[in-house]
Amino acid sequence: MPKSLTIAIDGHSSTGKSTLAKELAKALGYIYVDSGAMYRAVALFALRNQWVSAAAGCQEDKINQSLPDVQISFELDAQGANATHLNGERVEEEIRTMEVSNVVSHVAKLVPVRRHLVALQQAMGRDGGVVMDGRDIGTVVFPNAELKIFMTASDQVRAERRQQELAAKGQHWTVAEVLENLQSRDKADMERADSPLIAALDARTLDNSEITKAEQFDLVLAWVKELEA
Ligand code: DC
Repeated sequence: MPKSLTIAIDGHSSTGKSTLAKELAKALGYIYVDSGAMYRAVALFALRNQWVSAAAGCQEDKINQSLPDVQISFELDAQGANATHLNGERVEEEIRTMEVSNVVSHVAKLVPVRRHLVALQQAMGRDGGVVMDGRDIGTVVFPNAELKIFMTASDQVRAERRQQELAAKGQHWTVAEVLENLQSRDKADMERADSPLIAALDARTLDNSEITKAEQFDLVLAWVKELEA
């Protein structure tokens, strides 16, 4: 029996972390957890209550106090995909809109929000056999993960890919608008005081600007096989 690993995938926004994490989890029979979806769900909750806006930031106390009322779960949908639910309501599509992307950094920098979500993430991955993607998985959530990957790609490549993804869902933004959002989220992620985005010392860096998804998958699967042996 191969070992059940904990695989932490961190990196900049829109580098394809979730796509890789999902494919790996499927191939290995592991659990997949999208930690960014959890920050997005809290941001959506705050947005609906008008406690956050892109320009004015957020009402920290309101958000922090409401955390016990924010239930986040992942449930398999008819297509077999993990869909994010907020207090029992499917919000998988709504959390991916630019409206949420534009405010999520304000919410992700709140220390009580991070403590709350990190505890949930650690519980979800307690038994190993998990692939989790985010910004602080290899540094804070699972510092002992057997495999840590830090993903990156050029700004232009990331913005173009994301713009096409949004367009395919009927959300039309220019590459420049998407680029601005990516750069500002990266800056907020790297500069926040609590658990900033940084590659763990023992992470393997993966720049996918010039490799295909299939090449990337084969490379990472080879790393997993090496560690599982
Ligand atoms: O992975 P994503 O783009 O869906 O994440 C949404 C936001 O949540 C991102 O701008 C940074 C934040 N985030 C975080 O601070 N820590 C994580 N582990 C995951 C995401």
